[in-house]
Amino acid sequence: MTTAATSTGQPGTNTHTADYDVEKVRRDFPILRQTINDCPLVYLDNAATTQKPQAVIDALRHYYETDNANIHRGVHELSVRATEAYEKSRVKAQRFISAGRREEIIFTRGTTEAINLIAQAYARPILKGGDEILITTMEHHSNIVPWQLLCEQTGAVLRVAPINDRGELLLNEYEKLIGPRTKLVAVVHVSNALGTVNPIEEMIAMAHRRGAVVVIDGAQAAPHLPVDVRALDCDFYAFSSHKLYGPTGIGVLYGKQELLENMSPYQGGGDMIKSVTFEKTIYNDLPFRFEAGTPNIAGTIGFGAALDYVSRLGFEKIDAYEAELLNYATAALSKIPEVRLIGTAARKVSVLSFVVDGVHAHDVGTILDQLGIAVRTGHHCAQPVMEHFGLSATARASIGLYNTKEEIDALVAGVRKVVEVFG
Ligand code: ALA
Repeated sequence: MTTAATSTGQPGTNTHTADYDVEKVRRDFPILRQTINDCPLVYLDNAATTQKPQAVIDALRHYYETDNANIHRGVHELSVRATEAYEKSRVKAQRFISAGRREEIIFTRGTTEAINLIAQAYARPILKGGDEILITTMEHHSNIVPWQLLCEQTGAVLRVAPINDRGELLLNEYEKLIGPRTKLVAVVHVSNALGTVNPIEEMIAMAHRRGAVVVIDGAQAAPHLPVDVRALDCDFYAFSSHKLYGPTGIGVLYGKQELLENMSPYQGGGDMIKSVTFEKTIYNDLPFRFEAGTPNIAGTIGFGAALDYVSRLGFEKIDAYEAELLNYATAALSKIPEVRLIGTAARKVSVLSFVVDGVHAHDVGTILDQLGIAVRTGHHCAQPVMEHFGLSATARASIGLYNTKEEIDALVAGVRKVVEVFG
């Protein structure tokens, strides 16, 4: 499924990077043509959110300039056009993750809302006191807190599979933790704080052998790896548009149809019903049953344009190119004695989390910003990961499809400057 050879931290010996024209790609992103503090912008905060290509900006603008109307509600021309464009994005999302049916694609505000939807609409009605939910140490808070809330509500128990000091899941321990009371396993595909790619094919199969339903947080994977939900056989898969070069406030929950069919709605309101009387309300069919209220129509249409954009470039090329940059950056940062990389899994994508001896991560970020370099600093909404490594924060550079070797050189020079200033 994934192009393992290019996602494993191997030196860039692949054949796909030669025909990847990054300068041409960069011309598609107007925001990159600027200076920050008199230096060219080096945007390396792609795991937080990505920049948007002109095609996405144009799609948003076109919608508001020519088609703006509410969807699924009007017979007038604008409403028909808006509905068609919105539903086209659903089919694009379906194809993007190789889902079998468009009914299995629920639009949400993002990955966080998708996970909360599963917790409340799928898991809450079926969990009993003492049932178990299994997650891992490397989860983002959005794949921890919804389950803690659910445990408070149902008396279920949260179990956590450990990681090693490279930031890799201990697969044997994970398997041992799947017991007769494990009803649900919720795991991240790619760690936002470490870049680790989890072996989710095996993890899903292990959970299914014990009868547990599997939820995958794909927020950081979908921008970097091809995802095929049918080949994976996951029950639910969630990801966000804004990390995939699309607008904020829109994401996808994929769910197997047989599971979604048996779930009650997450929220009540317009569009999620067939008929309403004070005596009885009949809910709408999938996927509309889970999309109460006027959705993010413009965002969904922009998301469709983003999916077209990355699909045109092709994941084989994107993955190979980003892997080459990650290897280059890893080698260069590793040469600085004061730098310690956090997260050195054999299989990782995009993310370089690091600490500089004796320097707080926020100071690293501030000096880099003075040089026009954008990285994230802090706990990355993954405090248990920080705790595992005995840290309160790291600086994190995260690579996107428009970054260049020259930008990595600028990052490395910036980190050397940090060492010099605080040395
Ligand atoms: N989850 C996003 C990040 O890792 C916000 O930065």
